[in-house]
Amino acid sequence: MKIVIVGTGYVGLVTGTCFAEVGIEVVCVDIDQKKIDNLKNGILPIYEPGLEEMVERNVKKGRLKFSTDLSQSIVDAEVAFIAVGTPPGEDGSADLKYVLAVATAIGQSMKNDIVVVTKSTVPVGTSLKVKKALQEELGKRNASLTAYVSSNPEFLKEGAAIDDFMKPDRIVVGIDAPQAEETMRKLYKPFLLNGHPIFFMDIPSAEMTKYAANSMLATKISFMNDIANLCEIVGADVNLVRKGIGSDARIGNKFIYPGVGYGGSCFPKDVKALIKTAKQNGYDMRVLSAVEDVNDDQKYVLVKKVNKYFNNDLKGKKFGVWGLSFKPKTDDMREAPSLVIIPELLKAGASVIAYDPVAMHEASHTLKDTITYAQDPLEVLEGIDGLLIVTEWSEFRSPDFDVVKSKMKGKAIFDGRNIYDPKEMKTLGFDYYCIGLKAE
Ligand code: UDX
Repeated sequence: MKIVIVGTGYVGLVTGTCFAEVGIEVVCVDIDQKKIDNLKNGILPIYEPGLEEMVERNVKKGRLKFSTDLSQSIVDAEVAFIAVGTPPGEDGSADLKYVLAVATAIGQSMKNDIVVVTKSTVPVGTSLKVKKALQEELGKRNASLTAYVSSNPEFLKEGAAIDDFMKPDRIVVGIDAPQAEETMRKLYKPFLLNGHPIFFMDIPSAEMTKYAANSMLATKISFMNDIANLCEIVGADVNLVRKGIGSDARIGNKFIYPGVGYGGSCFPKDVKALIKTAKQNGYDMRVLSAVEDVNDDQKYVLVKKVNKYFNNDLKGKKFGVWGLSFKPKTDDMREAPSLVIIPELLKAGASVIAYDPVAMHEASHTLKDTITYAQDPLEVLEGIDGLLIVTEWSEFRSPDFDVVKSKMKGKAIFDGRNIYDPKEMKTLGFDYYCIGLKAE
């Protein structure tokens, strides 16, 4: 079986490589010549654990190819995935120009019947627009070919994307023709062997599933952040509350960790887009609007604690920051809380030195030389008044606290990810502040 993936961003590259891994012939297409040249030389545009080795292995076996030529690549492909970006427009709705341009290009160059799959996260109704664009081009060519459409949302977590793809909780496929169902079932067969379910459904339901999943997860997080903030006020411990509620299977113990707010490329964008879709259809998503508000505020929670501790006087103070990416195991800085927290500290007249295991290069595009970038976590500590933990990378979890204390000038640690034991920190002589505990 031969397939084409258009768009070699995060989703396209992981999808293409994982299909190649199970023996499918894959061509990954992108209009960015430099990106394709780099990929041919084994240089990846993103950091994802395990991906580089997997790309290399499949390129060597000849199952994974990279090209800028869509019309050439599409010849004899049975399936084409659209995995190009849908950046948010100014009003928050997803911009579909790249998705529809790919549909048009496929319609212009396809030589046999094909299933065109929308993989990018797109508003309900987009696959039908894709279908229209394809049919329009086929009509112009007077071609007696059929382009079936399908919506197949991805549920990949950055940092765990390969595992998520190879061992999916579920595969969701929207179709409107039996031919498309048959082809998609054949394509995904290798991933279903261990009992992972595949759900076929109508196209709007498949499109909606993705938004509903991400919105539900974002809601869980904002809800827990609200609970954590209230715990601080009433003197409860959110870590205990979290355990207390998470053992109820209906609630579950995943995705209920309070923190400095969710970030990344999916939750903020998808929550915004769903609110917008609803509004366009005359419906007000009240819960989701509150989820968004809570998250916006939560990004300031750590700075508020810093200000309180230093009596609103941060002028001339020096702060260390551990972690810049929106979560561990990725260099992704999109909507990262650090991009709100650090400028706030700078605005108040403080200076910042930061360390992140992989995201410093990405971060420097936005933060430029407003901060100092340290070579390792210990360098961050030299003479600082306070340390902020913004991303819970494993290497920050068990530092030698005697060394930490001896290097720092002050003794305040503001932990936005609750990675240390508050009692232990107190015994060690730190002023320790985290999320959801009453400050003593
Ligand atoms: C998410 C979805 O999980 C995935 O299914 C979808 O396809 C893309 O979006 P991702 O953005 O990679 O994946 O990150 P995820 O691990 O889901 O974390 C999202 C955000 O929530 C991060 O900012 C993280 O720090 C935050 N989070 C997560 C919490 O604050 N608390 C939690 O308990 C879990």
